[in-house]
Amino acid sequence: MQITPDLSRLLNELETLASFSDAPAPAVTRVVFSAQDLAARAYVQKLFSAAALELRTDAVGNTFARWAGTDPNVPAVATGSHTDAVPHAGRYDGTVGVLGGLEAIRALQRSGFRPRRSIELLTFTSEEPTRFGIGCLGSRLLSGTLSPESARQLKDSDGKSLEEALRQAGLDGSLENVRLANQFYHGFVELHIEQGPLLERKGIPIGIVTAIAAPATLRVRIEGSGGHAGAVLMPDRRDAFLAAAEIALAVESVAKATRSADSVATTGVCNVFPGAVNSIPSRAVLEIDVRDTDLARRDVMLSAIRAACEAIGVKRQVRVEVELINADAPAQASPLITEALSASCQALGIEFMSMVSRAYHDSLFLSRIAPTGMIFIPCRNGVSHRPDEYASPEDIKRGVQVLASALAQLAQ
Ligand code: GLV
Ligand code: MN
Ligand code: MN
Repeated sequence: MQITPDLSRLLNELETLASFSDAPAPAVTRVVFSAQDLAARAYVQKLFSAAALELRTDAVGNTFARWAGTDPNVPAVATGSHTDAVPHAGRYDGTVGVLGGLEAIRALQRSGFRPRRSIELLTFTSEEPTRFGIGCLGSRLLSGTLSPESARQLKDSDGKSLEEALRQAGLDGSLENVRLANQFYHGFVELHIEQGPLLERKGIPIGIVTAIAAPATLRVRIEGSGGHAGAVLMPDRRDAFLAAAEIALAVESVAKATRSADSVATTGVCNVFPGAVNSIPSRAVLEIDVRDTDLARRDVMLSAIRAACEAIGVKRQVRVEVELINADAPAQASPLITEALSASCQALGIEFMSMVSRAYHDSLFLSRIAPTGMIFIPCRNGVSHRPDEYASPEDIKRGVQVLASALAQLAQ
């Protein structure tokens, strides 16, 4: 079977998708259920329909585009990723898995292949945690990792609830219906840029992901005492931001203290209230991302950060409240998928290596309900979540070929 991706068409589609952005090009900002996100969803759905895929959208906005197989009685094979983008991101994170997945299906259609199992292309809602504080919202609900009740508690920084945002996006179904049964899919494969430097450094075009590191997120609310920046004397201050700053430094120390390159911790959000140059910060909110390939070590870091928060609160006489937003177990890829991927690479004559994903992906949650695996392609200098994120056309093409070949194998 000859699988020939239409690369120029795919690159054009990636470029068009990147134009749905709240930041000027080359930056991409596409936060879930923003006007740009909704326009981007409409754009990709039009492409899915043009490929004669049957569309369904669930109550949280996950979209399923199905190429019906010849046997309706067996579980489908699925692929997909996300189209939302963190503020000031690039154009390839997630989108390569959605539009590349679409091109893999179109290439199979053109080749004359007819799948026995249906092949479904999924676009997950809010893989990025930007708006509601938790990543992989769609795949968490779909896999039963997040309950509908917990999802209903979620609010964005303007106090708008997820349910309200869904209603405004025209989604008014019941979140109870999002969960899919275990083994609903025969297998799930996600194509994604590596977001790290290893493939490029080794000069290897394909990574087959064997495991996904365990992520966790903390939200820390600090309450001190505000006042006039000129009039309150230094010994009398209880500055919430200074406590936040010490906590952020403690987060760095905690990650470095494990002495493992697999331990990472980041304070990516710091909101200061009231945010006036001549007012002492009375409140601060931090969001802290903590990850490790080793679950026990990740949890040791979480405990150490909690202890540091408490000690800094006492020392600076501010109230510190730590909320655990998520603490997920790592995922192991299924041999069903990794073997299909390595067989595909061998058949195509493409060199590959096995590797761990340090970033999280919707695959982390799909792995809870279906045999799951991922294909990584290199990205320049390992850069991601930045406007200069870049994957070469040749690497994208190889990724689509490997995906298409694996889908065909799994769908037979
Ligand atoms: C996904 O974007 C992640 O933060 O790993
Ligand atoms: Mn991302
Ligand atoms: Mn991604």
